[in-house]
Amino acid sequence: MKFIKVEVSSNIATITLNRPDALNALNNDLIVEIGASISELDKDDEVHGIIITGSGEKAFAAGADIKGFPELDEVSGKALSQSGHHVFNQIENLSKPVIAAVNGYALGGGLELAMACHLRIASENAVFGMPETKLGLIPGYGGTQRLVHLIGKAKAMEYILTAEMMDAPTAANLGLVNSVAPSGLLIEASRDMLYKIAKRGPLAVSKAIESINASVNPEIDGFELEMKFFGELLASSECKEGVAAFIEKRKPVFRK
Ligand code: CAA
Repeated sequence: MKFIKVEVSSNIATITLNRPDALNALNNDLIVEIGASISELDKDDEVHGIIITGSGEKAFAAGADIKGFPELDEVSGKALSQSGHHVFNQIENLSKPVIAAVNGYALGGGLELAMACHLRIASENAVFGMPETKLGLIPGYGGTQRLVHLIGKAKAMEYILTAEMMDAPTAANLGLVNSVAPSGLLIEASRDMLYKIAKRGPLAVSKAIESINASVNPEIDGFELEMKFFGELLASSECKEGVAAFIEKRKPVFRK
């Protein structure tokens, strides 16, 4: 991989965006690399969860790579947007939990990447924003949709139209991030959250992700899906173990 680093330790994979001199700006090759690594990590049974973070102290990712924009036209611009949508949808629909550990600027495409993750933890110095209208653009990697889902239409409208940035406490108050951690403890806080999830039934976690995602997908009846998964899970060996453990007053063993 040229633009990202991927490490696995103690069942947690960390994908680090690795263009610190460009504040981890997302060129298309970097996005394709994220997609490829996510596919590999999804198949790896040793990996129970994934953290995406940025290299350096200043940025998670300062957006799509603006320096590549002058060479784009209508057709190649749409293709770039589609490529980002494809990979970010892949992250959102992954059956394993993915946390964005936001260690600085998460702007434009950077915020869109963080929003595609299942959970977001921000360092106290993180800064969020959608500055695309300053460039005569709109968010192109799902931001007009996911920001509305996370913080509501009124606030999404405000932040996208004004291009104003928000600090980490504001992002937490708006529900854009799950929590704020001291800068030096960001990765530890993200790992702790993934360890907590890894103790739960992995099949149940994956079905919960799919059901919750269905709530914002107009093509799927999320209530129907929930009933179907609930029945399937009740019949699963994972649930049999979870229920037996409760009755026998012991901890469940979900992973061999
Ligand atoms: N693309 C390409 N390069 C970028 C970049 C980006 N999005 N953001 C920062 N960089 C580069 C800068 O050009 C600079 O490189 P040089 O040293 O070679 O000039 C380097 O990273 C450091 O940046 P700054 O000197 O600007 O750092 P700063 O601390 O003064 O400012 C900043 C930080 C406020 C984040 C500023 O860099 C900035 O405004 N960046 C652009 C943010 C932006 O507009 N993002 C949206 C992109 S469009 C998008 O994402 C579309 C989409 O939805 C798909």
